[in-house]
Amino acid sequence: MPVENINKVAVIGAGTMGAQIAMVCALAEYQVVLQDVSPESLEKGRGILEEQMGKRVKKGRLTAEEVEVAFNRIVFTTSLNDLYDTDIVIEAIVEKVDIKRELFTKLDQITPAHAILATNSSTIVSSKLADATNRPDKVCNIHFFNPALVMELVEVVRGPHTSEETAETAMAFVKSINKYPVLLNKEISGFVANRILGKLMDEAVYLLENGIASHEDIDIVCKKALNHPIGPFALMDLTGIDVNYLVRMQRYQESGDEKDKPAKVVQEKVEKGELGRKTGKGFYTYESTPAKV
Ligand SMILES: NC(=O)c1ccc[n+]([C@@H]2O[C@H](COP(=O)([O-])OP(=O)(O)OC[C@H]3O[C@@H](n4cnc5c(N)ncnc54)[C@H](O)[C@@H]3O)[C@@H](O)[C@H]2O)c1
Repeated sequence: MPVENINKVAVIGAGTMGAQIAMVCALAEYQVVLQDVSPESLEKGRGILEEQMGKRVKKGRLTAEEVEVAFNRIVFTTSLNDLYDTDIVIEAIVEKVDIKRELFTKLDQITPAHAILATNSSTIVSSKLADATNRPDKVCNIHFFNPALVMELVEVVRGPHTSEETAETAMAFVKSINKYPVLLNKEISGFVANRILGKLMDEAVYLLENGIASHEDIDIVCKKALNHPIGPFALMDLTGIDVNYLVRMQRYQESGDEKDKPAKVVQEKVEKGELGRKTGKGFYTYESTPAKV
C-alpha cells in the first residue's frame, strides 16, 4: 500500500504515548481513531491534549481553529469495531507481550487486509507479535519518543517478517506526520537511541558508585564537555528511576546475567521511593512537581 492510500490511522492506548501520537496524526490531517479499553484513560488523554494544545494556542504556534479542526478529526472510542476501515494501526498499550499479542490477533480480524499493524513498544520487537496475525509482512515497530508531540525522531524497525513495501510505507507515513524516521534494518532489543542512552547511563552510574565524581559533577561534564542538553542523572530523574530499574530487571530476567541487574544506587533509590521528579526527589530534590511538556 503506498502512503497516499493511508487516510485513517488508529492509535490503540490513550496513555502517555498514544494520546499524543493520535494528535500528531490529526495535526497532519489524518482521520484518527483513538481506542482504549478504559474510558477514564480516554478522558484523561483528551484532557492532557486539551491542555497541551491550549498552551500552543497561547504561544501563537497554532490557532484555536486549527486545534478545533484537529480534535474533530479524532474519534475517542472504547470499541475496536471502529477500526473496520483503518489503513494503519499504531499500538501503544501496556508493555506486556501477552496482552499485545491478544490485541494483534483482534486487530488482524477487525482491520482491512491491507492495513499495517505497528507497535510503539520500546522493548518488544515486532517478531514477538507478528505471528499472532495472518499478515506478518505488514507488522513492524514504529517507535516514537516521549513526548511524542515534541520529539521529532521516530525509529521504524523492520523484522525478518516485515516486507520491503511495509517498511517503505511506514517510513513515508512517519515523514507525512512531520516526524523524522530512521530505519533499523534488523531487530534488536532497545533499538538505537535507548541502547546508546543505556550505555551512557551505565557508565555514569559506574563512575558514581566508584566514587570518581558526584552525580552533579558527572552531569556537568556531560553538559559542558559533551554538549548534552541534560546530564544522565537529571535525565533519569526526568524519566523516572523506576523505569531504569524495570528495564534492567526485564533484561536480567531475559539473560540471567548478574551484570544486567539494576545498579545498587538505582535499586536503593527505588526502595526509598525516590523515583525522580514525579516523587519530588531522585538524585536531585525538586520543590514542586515539574510542569508537563
Ligand atoms: N512512556 C514512554 O516514555 C514511552 C516511550 C516510547 C514508547 N513507549 C511504549 O509505548 C507503549 C505505551 O506506553 P505508555 O507509557 O503510553 O503507557 P501508559 O500506561 O501511559 O498507557 C497505556 C494505555 O493502554 C491502555 N490499554 C491497556 N491495555 C489495553 C488494551 N488491551 N487495549 C486498549 N488499550 C489498552 C491503558 O488503559 C492505558 O491508557 C508501551 O509499549 C511502551 O513501551 C513508551
